Amino acid sequence: MRLVFLGVPGVGKGTQAEMVSAKYGIPKISTGDLLRAGVVQQTPLGKEAKQYMDRGDLVPDKVVIGLVEEKIGTSECEKGFILDGFPRTVNQARSLDQHLRHQDASIECALFLGASEETILERLSGRLVCSQCEESYHSAFRRPTLDSVCDECGAPVIRRRDDDPAVYRRRLKIYQKETAPLVEYYDAQGVLRRVASDRPVEAVADSVRRAVRGVV
Ligand code: AP5
Repeated sequence: MRLVFLGVPGVGKGTQAEMVSAKYGIPKISTGDLLRAGVVQQTPLGKEAKQYMDRGDLVPDKVVIGLVEEKIGTSECEKGFILDGFPRTVNQARSLDQHLRHQDASIECALFLGASEETILERLSGRLVCSQCEESYHSAFRRPTLDSVCDECGAPVIRRRDDDPAVYRRRLKIYQKETAPLVEYYDAQGVLRRVASDRPVEAVADSVRRAVRGVV
């Protein structure tokens, strides 16, 4: 399965990608998670990425494309992968297609999650994440068992810097300009499926499972 998740920041891509990954045993590659891990570990990549991420800007294509190509070239991804947060620009999508063509492969399904602006704001304003392992929580929909402590690793649970309203507005603007055209891009390839995401996590997951059934 070679699957891409598309949608506005906060629509639930990471949540659903994680569930598909767990159900089918296919690795999830989240560029946001990889970049944030680099920031925490203060790697050269993380240091470069941080300035863009803090502002809500996209990290330059060449950095992110290299990161993803390296990941999908590993033996872990032999049976496929689930991309969350990549591609983010038409240039990234074209590079990915070109890279896969060399392996006689292609993206089999691009899942677009859609939700109202009200839903998105509710999700982003309540989102909490583990400061170490990136496990995602929500102050109303998915609270950690112990307040402010990650259930998975015990590290503090925090708010993401880029969920600040000013930064979020910038991310949304950039999404509309750079990422929204990917819906048409994958539609033209005949691999786009749309899923309504303004519903509880399990209801969305059911629709996602139905949408990817023919692909697995
Ligand atoms: P990234 O981490 O990819 O952020 P994003 O696309 O903005 O997406 P989010 O993680 O904000 O949201 P999501 O859709 O995954 O929602 P989630 O499942 O968490 O990127 C961050 C930054 O990194 C970018 O701004 C950029 O700088 C850089 N970057 C990353 N990739 C890049 C690339 N390819 N090129 C260049 N730069 C790149 O859900 C949100 C909340 O809602 C959670 O609290 C969750 O628990 C809750 N929730 C989810 N679903 C439901 C539901 N159905 N009902 C109730 N609550 C729900």
